[in-house]
Amino acid sequence: MVSFSLEGKAALVTGAAQGIGYGVADGLLAAGADVAVVDLESSDPAAAAARLSEAHERTVGHYICDVTDSAAIAAMVPGVAAALGRLDIAVNNAGVSNAGPTTETSDEEWRRVFGVNVDGMYYCCREEGRWFIENGVKGSIINTASICAFYSVPQAQTPYNASKSAAWGMTRSLAYEWAPHGIRVNSVSPGFVVTPMLETPRLKPQQAGWTDLTPLGKLAQIDDVVGAYVYLAGDAAGHVTGSDIIIDGGLTLH
Ligand SMILES: NC(=O)c1ccc[n+]([C@@H]2O[C@H](COP(=O)([O-])OP(=O)(O)OC[C@H]3O[C@@H](n4cnc5c(N)ncnc54)[C@H](O)[C@@H]3O)[C@@H](O)[C@H]2O)c1
Repeated sequence: MVSFSLEGKAALVTGAAQGIGYGVADGLLAAGADVAVVDLESSDPAAAAARLSEAHERTVGHYICDVTDSAAIAAMVPGVAAALGRLDIAVNNAGVSNAGPTTETSDEEWRRVFGVNVDGMYYCCREEGRWFIENGVKGSIINTASICAFYSVPQAQTPYNASKSAAWGMTRSLAYEWAPHGIRVNSVSPGFVVTPMLETPRLKPQQAGWTDLTPLGKLAQIDDVVGAYVYLAGDAAGHVTGSDIIIDGGLTLH
């Protein structure tokens, strides 16, 4: 029987102070990994790490880092590995949403979304891959993409959708590039998940419409998506690379 245990492994999760990232950190800890919570100072990763540490009675690291800052990421990856004593799993999950007609979208808004969702993910992957290669670790990189990578219904949000298509393309490209090193690169594409991102005044009123569109008749809760990350992180997914797991209650069956 294949093992889903992550005992003895260590992971970093970006955007882990809340939402999906927090749930993933919680799931990786429950499966036996040590975890570092990486997030913006304003999101208080130290407080999130303290809550996780209390729940799991184990040491949880935290690291303040803005993923749009490539120099900060170049310091963060080896910093986390040194603090945890090793690094096997990297979950690049930090992201921002956007919505609105393209004709009313500014250059700044396009750059804001791409700065976090694309540049940030690329910098993280690059430094994680570099660290895995230099240290001979057959690591697992998991990127949070979205069904928006390939499904444009129901609201106008071209910068966000395009950024998630880039996340999917990056995942496949790096999976091929780093396969000779035994490094696996995969992504998870959630549909609508109830997190602080969806609770914003701009998105919350749309939730009923999304529920109606979803064949399973409900939005995902964070726990609905965590298992895919735990699976992709460990040896149970040892032959899985360049893959994407969709978790959307059947939404993209339309
Ligand atoms: N909620 C959904 O329905 C949904 C669906 C598909 C994909 N996603 C993706 O899942 C990921 C997590 O989303 P969520 O819903 O948990 O959102 P969220 O807003 O609840 O959490 C996002 C986290 O990312 C952090 N973050 C933002 N910018 C950052 C930066 N520059 N540097 C470091 N950290 C930064 C935030 O501080 C926050 O902790 C995102 O990539 C999002 O695009 C969400």
